[in-house]
Amino acid sequence: MKFQGSDQYVATQDLMLAVNAAITLKRPLLVKGEPGTGKTMLAEEVARALNMPLLQWHIKSTTKAQQGLYEYDAVSRLRDSQLADDASVEKVRDIRNYIVRGTLWQAFTSEQPVALLIDEIDKADIEFPNDLLRELDRMEFYVYETRELVRARHRPVVFITSNNEKELPDAFLRRCFFHYIKFPDADTMQKIVDVHFPGLKQELLGAAMKTFYDVRNLPGLKKKPSTSELLDWLKLLVAEDIPPEVLHSKDEKVSVPPLVGALLKNEQDVTLFEKLVFMQRHNR
Ligand SMILES: Nc1ncnc2c1ncn2[C@@H]1O[C@H](COP(=O)(O)OP(=O)(O)OP(=O)(O)O)[C@@H](O)[C@H]1O
Ligand SMILES: [Mg+2]
Repeated sequence: MKFQGSDQYVATQDLMLAVNAAITLKRPLLVKGEPGTGKTMLAEEVARALNMPLLQWHIKSTTKAQQGLYEYDAVSRLRDSQLADDASVEKVRDIRNYIVRGTLWQAFTSEQPVALLIDEIDKADIEFPNDLLRELDRMEFYVYETRELVRARHRPVVFITSNNEKELPDAFLRRCFFHYIKFPDADTMQKIVDVHFPGLKQELLGAAMKTFYDVRNLPGLKKKPSTSELLDWLKLLVAEDIPPEVLHSKDEKVSVPPLVGALLKNEQDVTLFEKLVFMQRHNR
């Protein structure tokens, strides 16, 4: 099993190395990076390239580790117990009918090897990663209600993404292989854009990329635009048929690039950018 990137996803050499290292070590790959740098998509693409189904578990602030294993649906059981027909009585008797399998359980018991994505683990509370240590390490867990041990038939290829909103515990980190997706340099970005917009006019692309990196490199920006935002912006530029000249226009009235709302997401950043454009003009 070797991941080589795909026709829809541009993987740098070190990213490919990391994916393959995690597979070799049989450890989860912990992927960090700015929002929109392709962390979630990486799991989708690796699964596709390795021809495995991908099971996704999207973490929210309220998600508990137990939900990934299983949940006991006591409410349904109570409701069924109030029905008098034979089928319901029969069903209520067996607690297994009310054990709802979570994503991890599904991944463990799947017939064929699967990939498993635990997306945005940093959204959950601080105990969440610790609560999954054993499950991810030993690939097994115990169901107390039915007294059964669920063990993985095949070890899933596990991806865990984080946006760094919370620190992850050391014990958890020890069990992962780590990779930080660096913000793509201009060359890589060009490849990513090519994947999404084959045949984009070079002049427009050049001008747009220059503006994009100028915006990103503004000191003091609250939120830097990322890969996915550049792609959105390019899509709009193409849809609106914006000529490349507009992006580096000398017209005094055009202060900020068109459709800048795709790149800058708060008013302070827009103001900052306007100031810079203003200053540059006066330096000329
Ligand atoms: N290396 C890449 N190759 C191709 N497309 C990419 C790449 N990186 C990012 N993209 C584009 O950016 C979009 C966003 O990627 P994705 O959703 O995986 O980001 P993310 O890192 O998971 O972001 P978040 O942290 O906000 O969840 C993708 O849908 C894809 O179009
Ligand atoms: Mg994501």
